[in-house]
Amino acid sequence: MRHSISAAFLGLFAIACTSRPEPREAAVIPQPMRMVKRGDYVRIGPDRIRTGVDTSVVSNPEGYRLTVGPDGAEVIGGGEAGVFYGLQTLEQLRDSAGWVPTVEIEDAPRFRWRGMHLDVSRHFFPKEFIKRYLDILAYHRINVFHWHLTDGIGWRLAIDRYPLLTERAAWRRVKDPKAPWVGLELSDESRRDSADTYGGYYTKEDVREIVAYARARHITVIPEIEMPGHSEAATFAYPEYACPTARPGSGIYCPGNDSTFVFLQRIVDEVVELFPDAPYIHIGADEVGKEQWRGCPLCQARMRTEGLKDEHELQSYFVHRMEEHINAKGKAMIGYDEILEGGLAPNATVMSWTGFEGGVRAANAGHDAVMVPLDYVYFDHYQGQNPCEPQAWGGYNGLPRVYSFDPVRPEIEADKRHHILGGQANIWTENIRTPEHVEYMLLPRLAALAEALWTDTTAKDWGRFERKLDRQLSRYAARGWNYAESGFTPFVAEQYFRPDGALVVRLETELSGYPIRYTLDGSLPSEGAELYTDSIVIKEPATLTARAFRGGEPAGCVLKVPHLLNRATLAKVSYATPYNPAYTGGGDTALVDNRYAFKRGDDRAWQGFEGTDMDLTLDLGEEQPVAGVWTEFLQHIASTSVMLPTRLAVWTSTDGQNFTRVVDRAVEEDDDSEVMIRPFDLRFEAPVSARYVRIRATNRGVLPVGHPREGSPAWVFTDEVVVY
Ligand code: ACM
Ligand code: ZN
Repeated sequence: MRHSISAAFLGLFAIACTSRPEPREAAVIPQPMRMVKRGDYVRIGPDRIRTGVDTSVVSNPEGYRLTVGPDGAEVIGGGEAGVFYGLQTLEQLRDSAGWVPTVEIEDAPRFRWRGMHLDVSRHFFPKEFIKRYLDILAYHRINVFHWHLTDGIGWRLAIDRYPLLTERAAWRRVKDPKAPWVGLELSDESRRDSADTYGGYYTKEDVREIVAYARARHITVIPEIEMPGHSEAATFAYPEYACPTARPGSGIYCPGNDSTFVFLQRIVDEVVELFPDAPYIHIGADEVGKEQWRGCPLCQARMRTEGLKDEHELQSYFVHRMEEHINAKGKAMIGYDEILEGGLAPNATVMSWTGFEGGVRAANAGHDAVMVPLDYVYFDHYQGQNPCEPQAWGGYNGLPRVYSFDPVRPEIEADKRHHILGGQANIWTENIRTPEHVEYMLLPRLAALAEALWTDTTAKDWGRFERKLDRQLSRYAARGWNYAESGFTPFVAEQYFRPDGALVVRLETELSGYPIRYTLDGSLPSEGAELYTDSIVIKEPATLTARAFRGGEPAGCVLKVPHLLNRATLAKVSYATPYNPAYTGGGDTALVDNRYAFKRGDDRAWQGFEGTDMDLTLDLGEEQPVAGVWTEFLQHIASTSVMLPTRLAVWTSTDGQNFTRVVDRAVEEDDDSEVMIRPFDLRFEAPVSARYVRIRATNRGVLPVGHPREGSPAWVFTDEVVVY
């Protein structure tokens, strides 16, 4: 069967007259399995492309063979999806003038589940953006869209039978701080926002439109209806399906109550009908706190009658019962690795998010699994270490990390590896409110994911990938897609003192091949600034400011490292109160090593004091003029006990015995719950001559009422003290 597929659909072909291009590396992402270039170039217009499906030539329905020669281009797919992907490759091979290298490509994906998730519950994203998101996914040959439709304050899918799910939505009450859903996963920042950011749901018509839009791009939409946890919105609207002993909006269904299953099964029935293409219904089932069930008479009675020995087995009972219903409706069930707790349901597929381990266990037990380990492919995690990065969740999944993702682990027995269907990246949106921000978290990490999931490990090559990525970023720009330039942002890769006291700093960027320029006087480096080569040797007090350039333009964020080689650098520090052994920051020199911590409490460069003040004295070695002290502190109310100090005081001394207080000031409280680093410049009224400087930062004490950890001791976190 041969037929033509609309090439215009892919936005091909605006032809200008130019001469034959210089040979250059093909920048196809993801990298094809086999590509042989013939060394010549031909002009290809739309009339010179033949396409067709021929399963005797290409066996994988997503695979294709692309031949470009003097007669034009031919794309043979193993299915329509293969043709679609073959045309995408052709488009990426073409330059703007229509020249294409003569090539022969045979290509097929390594994995059949190449997924991308989006949480539309914590923040809502309109239908138009979902379509744009699907365009971006299709461009990267992602073939599964995991649509996280219910969670926290937002149930985003119209269910005819239960209209209150969307009408009595918890997000409508967001502005009322006394509403019963207080305690839902909602940051202060979120709370401050207008409820408009939260409002919204998809009608059934919207869903059908999106499913069809995805289908046209060879993407299957897998709907997720979370249960039995993460269901605050549902238990807010229908509290009768939570345990009778639970507080309102507790977010956990009661498996002791048979009507809970009726409720959820009716919802599943409507979902099944809305997603005819989806082989799976995703039930989440992650992070279910079991305390509520422990205190519920219905749950306890269920455990007795069913002979369940603990609440894990009760969760397993719940999941089994839902699976039976989902299977009866002709769908398979998939859930997060917690569905392994208490015994895996007979036909379940496991989505392994806490690491690879759940997926390994599932595969070795003969179950299918999809790998989504948070330390590699959670795109709500940071993608750069610079303070310019927007508030993100947890760890650091930069481009090289994502690129290194391999869903198949050596711990999986050889005859069980086919159970690994593939992998996926997730975007949770607690911290993400706008489509632009979603795109920023998605791109260009999705390019790295695409290659990790499509390309065989033998054809993966980080060096080639980073060269190709430059052109990929230009393609994003041409399409108006917002992408992160974090890969260009310089960071301190290594730093040490030479025996002569000079400080040696080595910089890197994730993406190599871009010149870094720097200054040492605090000014912003222009294109004429000093070019970084292999290290910077600092011999005098300096502020290092560095940035990378791409095509002559600044790219990424600016790295700024202040107060290098200040008067306190490598001074002897004596502590009146010891730092906590769990947060040493690197020990006694941590605060004078000119090494600055990142905006995350888990950075080991922070030195922490639990319930006590930071109170230390620096010995500068000899008496000298001192004009002030600079230091900085971390605060992160939302997820830690780390608080700004309440007072800062400084004393100086010439003999180490008699100290004179030169600074004593209160620190203004800041109840912003998001992570912050607050610098303090404590300039003296007039310079004093001193050898010893004592600095005290007063601990907040017991965490106040309203703090998520109220009543426990506050911490003081600092990473550096500077004397100038
Ligand atoms: C998850 O991130 N809780 C699946
Ligand atoms: Zn119960």
